[in-house]
Parts: sequence; structure tokens; C-alpha cells
Amino acid sequence: MTIDTVGRIQIRMGDITQVDVDAIVNAANPSLLGGEGVDGMIHWAAGEELLEECRSLGGCPTGEARITRGYKLPARHVIHTVGPVYGIDGENSPQLLSSCYKNSLELAVENGVATIAFPAISCGIYGYPVEKACRIAIDTTLEFLKNDESITRVIFVLYSCRHYDVYMDYFDTIKGGIPVDAEAPDT
Ligand code: APR
Repeated sequence: MTIDTVGRIQIRMGDITQVDVDAIVNAANPSLLGGEGVDGMIHWAAGEELLEECRSLGGCPTGEARITRGYKLPARHVIHTVGPVYGIDGENSPQLLSSCYKNSLELAVENGVATIAFPAISCGIYGYPVEKACRIAIDTTLEFLKNDESITRVIFVLYSCRHYDVYMDYFDTIKGGIPVDAEAPDT
């Protein structure tokens, strides 16, 4: 019996802070003390208790992940991961970015998280080309789902039409060119 993997993945456009899942993933920096981009919006939406809990974690190395509560967010948890800075982390960047997704999924399973949403990690301030990053994100996730049935839904939440199109185009090829009945973009 083959485990369904592709069917558990969804591509969506919108604001990840609004997504009602067990955990949303934050594209953080090693301090875990907040920042701009999706990091800033998650902290703003979750409230100051999130920062208090993050302070107790003592930071997070690139490629690793840490979990906190979600506080005022619809999501029950936030999984904070630190992506590579494109061009700085050199040839390790693909491996480090893949580790962000793998370690976040492993942490999700360890904490009973069944539904999880990812932003396009490193594709903003950290400058990772989304065409390369989306392949790493989707391929790493599919590989993980081959050996795990506890995760029932992985949503990639994109914040721009361009990123959404790039993810959808690649995901379409994975599905054999069959148009994906992806969620309509959030209003
Ligand atoms: N929902 C979903 N995606 C979002 C949101 C949002 N509310 N806001 C931004 N994004 C998208 C960006 O468009 C980009 O595609 O998240 C992706 C990641 O961009 P950044 O947030 O800039 O994260 P990253 O490139 O990983 O850089 C991390 O930025 O905010 C700081 O503290 C953070 O230093 C760290 C660095």
C-alpha cells in the first residue's frame, strides 16, 4: 500500500498568520527575537507572549527548528526555523534549506502536530531564488511524507502572486501536469 504524499500538500496564497492549522512555521533569524517579513507579522499577530517564550529558547542555529505556543494566532503552535542567507551560506545553502523543512516536520510530529503551514523560507530578506527554494521545499516535504502518516496536511502559503505561480508550476509537474485543484487564493 503506497502512502499518499502529494494529496496531503496544498499550495495557497495569503497571510500565514491567518491560517488555522496546528502549527505555522516562522522564517526566523538565529536570535529568535523577531524581525521584519513573516517573522515580524507572526510576532505582531501572536502578541508579546510569543517573544517572551522565544527569549527562553536561547536562539536557533541555521537549519534547525524550535517550537513555541501560538498565543493569539489561530495556529496552536509556531515552529521557528532559520533559513540560509543566499550567497552567504555558500554551497551549504540547499542542504541547510532542506534541513529547515525536515527539522520543522520532525518537530511537528514529535509534538503531535498534524496540520502545518510553511512560508517560502529564505525567499525574502535572505534572498533565496524562489525557483530553487520551492523545489527544495516540496521535494524535502514529499520525501518526509513518504515515511510519515501522522502529518495530514502541509500547506505552502505564499505571499505574492509570483511566488504562488512558481510553487504551482513546480507542483503541477510533480502531479504529472494535472492541474492542481489548489485552494483559491485567500481573499
Ligand atoms: N504570510 C506568508 N508569507 C509571508 C508573509 C505572511 N504574512 N510575510 C512575508 N511572507 C513571505 C515573503 O514574501 C517571503 O516569500 O515569506 C517569505 C520569507 O521572507 P522573509 O520573511 O523576509 O524571511 P527570510 O527571507 O527567511 O529572511 C529571514 O528576515 O524577518 C527577518 O527575522 C527575519 O532575519 C530574518 C530574515
